[in-house]
Amino acid sequence: MKEALNNILATAKAELSQVAEAKALDEIRVKYLGKKGELTAILKQMGSLSAEERPVIGQLANEIRAHIEDSIAFTGAQLREKLLARRLEEEKLDVTLPGQKSLIGHQHPLNIVLDEIKEIFLGMGFDVVHGPEVELDYYNFEALNLPKDHPARDVQDTFYINDTVLLRTQTSPVQVRTMEQQKPPIRIIAPGRVYRSDEVDATHSPMFHQIEGLVVDKGVTMADLKGTLEVFVKRLYGEDSQVRFRPHHFPFTEPSAELDVMCFHCHGEGCRLCKGEGWIEILGCGMVHPKVLQNCGIDPEIYSGFAFGMGLERIVMRRYNIDDLRLLYDNDIRFLEQF
Ligand code: DAH
Repeated sequence: MKEALNNILATAKAELSQVAEAKALDEIRVKYLGKKGELTAILKQMGSLSAEERPVIGQLANEIRAHIEDSIAFTGAQLREKLLARRLEEEKLDVTLPGQKSLIGHQHPLNIVLDEIKEIFLGMGFDVVHGPEVELDYYNFEALNLPKDHPARDVQDTFYINDTVLLRTQTSPVQVRTMEQQKPPIRIIAPGRVYRSDEVDATHSPMFHQIEGLVVDKGVTMADLKGTLEVFVKRLYGEDSQVRFRPHHFPFTEPSAELDVMCFHCHGEGCRLCKGEGWIEILGCGMVHPKVLQNCGIDPEIYSGFAFGMGLERIVMRRYNIDDLRLLYDNDIRFLEQF
């Protein structure tokens, strides 16, 4: 039995010297020290020993158990150390490497310029309001003095949903909605998407953005319109910008005008940017037609107002020298990164 015990110690030690992972170590522990282990099996035979032999073998068995336990603990510690060393080697961190820059986006060029325009008008006491993109024919056309058979409807190729509902072709319906809900004094701008059934090309898109403006109060005159829009253009394009008002026609304003700014590239000489004109059209405007005021329940004998509408894309394209409208909607990061 002594021999068997010594054998167990020897093979346990031999096996421990081969162990390379924690799982194998655990198996050895069970194999030798477990309830069904080899050492226990031998101790079970102690009953067959003589009274003198029993304490001797008992002591030896205890020594061997202690010895194996120590060896297992020692091998375990060695394994953990090796594992740690390997991980330290594998996961070596080079703190001198440059960090990874996190990608932070920024506003789309349309929103950069829109925010600037909003700031200018907020500074002049305007509020920013919004209206629906799916709109009633009544607000988009009729209330704006464009009855069903009006020829001016033709220039705005409209997406009709049915006879009375459409995608708004302009932000002007927000004027009507505002005047219905709010009594003068009114000072608002209304930015938003508008839709027209146009083929896509470098200067056309079936969806684009407009910014509408409306001022209604007692005693508002054409001088207020000119003063306000001149200040706006100078804030947007620089104090030395020159503007001119050109007579025009819109069914919802009388008189109506278009506002041009002197070409900032050629200063009126005529170049490619202004198509030889020397001037660039920025917006449409005019004094709100008395009929439109009436349609909204505002007495044109007491109140008067002016209104204007501009296309955001054109302003953005000129600002950043973008020659193709589609770039603004493609959302190609390589393009957008530049702003
Ligand atoms: N809604 C016009 C358009 O889409 C632009 C416009 C012109 C708006 C004159 C106005 C205005 O408010 O007074 O062409």
